[in-house]
Amino acid sequence: MKIDAVTIFPEYFSPLQLSLIGKAQENDILDIAIHNLRDYTEDNHHSVDDTPYGGGAGMVMKPEIWGLVLDDLMIPETDLIILTPAGEVFDQRMAEELSKSSHLIFACGRYEGIDARVGQYYSQDEFAAQGIRVREVSIGNYVLGGGEVAALVMIEAITRLLPGVLGNPDSLAEESHVEDGFLEYPNFTKPQTWRGIGVPEILLSGNHAAIAKWRREEAAKKAEK
Ligand code: ADE
Repeated sequence: MKIDAVTIFPEYFSPLQLSLIGKAQENDILDIAIHNLRDYTEDNHHSVDDTPYGGGAGMVMKPEIWGLVLDDLMIPETDLIILTPAGEVFDQRMAEELSKSSHLIFACGRYEGIDARVGQYYSQDEFAAQGIRVREVSIGNYVLGGGEVAALVMIEAITRLLPGVLGNPDSLAEESHVEDGFLEYPNFTKPQTWRGIGVPEILLSGNHAAIAKWRREEAAKKAEK
């Protein structure tokens, strides 16, 4: 999978060098490139934003610069993700869907966001005909300073679903029910008693069917909350 992220703060993405995502890049399972939007500006001030039409507070990111960088990165079958608190809320199902993509571009807006015509432009038929899809996505109903942290969250949730990224692929099979709104069952390890609290007896029973049933029930209890 190829991932491009476009931002005015490339340093935000340094955690992608760590852990399983870092390893997946070394092993050529993942190809991640971070692009500085300001590199595409042509004025002396490298300005990326301007005042909003219609007035109001804040600044809006200029469409021309986004057009230059996205024209450069866009290839057939690209999924363009525009991060905005007003987007469709990201969940495990969307992570599964996007993990099937060959190319993701994350457009990280700052300020009051990216000029709305950018999303409109790449949603036109000529792009759809090349398999290019545009989605406005939010990671939750709160407002962040920009899309960078949201992109990191999505990249982590999506890439761990790719074959070869997780050390133990059984972890994925065991959590498949997360998609259906079921959170995981509680987990315990040694010692058997910690600060006076024991682990549930059933987990020590060796009765795998009974353990599986208990875990399903506990997960269902969590999902009800
Ligand atoms: N930009 C600002 N807030 C955001 C959110 N909640 N999700 C995605 N992008 C954002």
